[in-house]
Amino acid sequence: MSQLTSHIEQVAIEDLVKTYGTPLYVYSKASITEAFKRYQDAFGARKHLICYAVKANSNLSVIRLLADLGAGFDIVSRGELLRVLKAGGDPTKVIFSGVGKTREDLRFALETGIHCFNVESEAELYRLNEEAGKLGLMAPISFRVNPDVDAKTHPYISTGLRENKFGIPYDQAVRLYEAAHQLPHIAIKGIDCHIGSQLTELSPYCDAVDRMLKLIDALKEKGIELEHFDMGGGLGIDYQGETLITPQTLVDMIYEKLGDRDLMMTMEPGRSIVGDSGYLLTEVILTKENEGKHFAVVDAAMNDLIRPALYESWMRIETTQASDAPVHNYDIVGPVCETGDFLGKNRDLALSAGDILVVKQAGAYGFVMSSNYNTRGRAAEILIDQDQAYLIRERERLEDLFANEKVVSFDER
Ligand code: LLP
Repeated sequence: MSQLTSHIEQVAIEDLVKTYGTPLYVYSKASITEAFKRYQDAFGARKHLICYAVKANSNLSVIRLLADLGAGFDIVSRGELLRVLKAGGDPTKVIFSGVGKTREDLRFALETGIHCFNVESEAELYRLNEEAGKLGLMAPISFRVNPDVDAKTHPYISTGLRENKFGIPYDQAVRLYEAAHQLPHIAIKGIDCHIGSQLTELSPYCDAVDRMLKLIDALKEKGIELEHFDMGGGLGIDYQGETLITPQTLVDMIYEKLGDRDLMMTMEPGRSIVGDSGYLLTEVILTKENEGKHFAVVDAAMNDLIRPALYESWMRIETTQASDAPVHNYDIVGPVCETGDFLGKNRDLALSAGDILVVKQAGAYGFVMSSNYNTRGRAAEILIDQDQAYLIRERERLEDLFANEKVVSFDER
């Protein structure tokens, strides 16, 4: 039987649902704070920069909370940079990743004065040099090097293999660093890699560190000294009883391999900072049985939480109180007209219409990946601090969904 979740920190889920309705994303401040501190503690007094990957959960209040804890930020768009600035994050702690930065993106980040660009192609290097030149600035860079290791995670979230679109090929790295060294508006600062997400084994990280250190040493021999080494993000969380790598284990492994090389370590964790903090609350609209198969149709759908549909991710789904209803083996599905619209399959639950279900570990890649498919407004978001709930994003109103559209009339043509 499933577990019960009745409170988030000290706030009763029942009260949240009464006040804010469903579907509702709720985050725990204590959980985010603890997760971030685990990274800080892992580094201790060693020089480091933890750049939270904004893509995992980009709500302004979440960014603000992490900024207050001392975080830097890993961004992948101009929009994310604007969010960081709006939330009061420090631009000098921002690193800019992504394979498709436009000239506008580059200019905006140059003018803002970010910590580093993670350059992902030769074309981007020359473009960045040009744009920096026009502004009379130096662009601080790392190359994101693709170490060609198998992260042993879902293929859609594996990024460090030769066939993935990310980064520059390992074999080209020395040549590109030498080219960058000659450019008048490029300042080489570091090296970066990111091999995938939801990693639960240490060995791919070990292989990646070994390969990156080889490169760092080869560059030093050519007279190119780096200031920082960015190992990306990727630590997995416990969705379904996975054994986890702790930040401490990862950081200790890296420093052991670093030896006496004097490099500032940077990391870009996303999921492992915010994933556990989040809950998606949804109400059972009705239950139905088709030819012996039981369905609970809930008011959250794939547009609210796409992870189960997109990656067949298994996410914990719990009820908020004990029930006398019979236990059935349910597929928990949303109202969207797609067979792929499910939050969970084959869950033994005692359910009736009106019950509240709690999807756990929904703080990362949940709300941020939500859409308006089927003209469904996106959920509200709440941040809990002990016994207080703060509305950090209003529920979208249906009128908002077509506010930017125009009705073209052809009557008078
Ligand atoms: N750095 C870079 C360059 C990345 O591409 C990512 C994630 C991260 C850091 C943060 O990785 P994390 O620590 O969160 O694993 N939507 C998928 C996950 C996509 C991850 C994309 N890149 C999911 O829901 O599982």
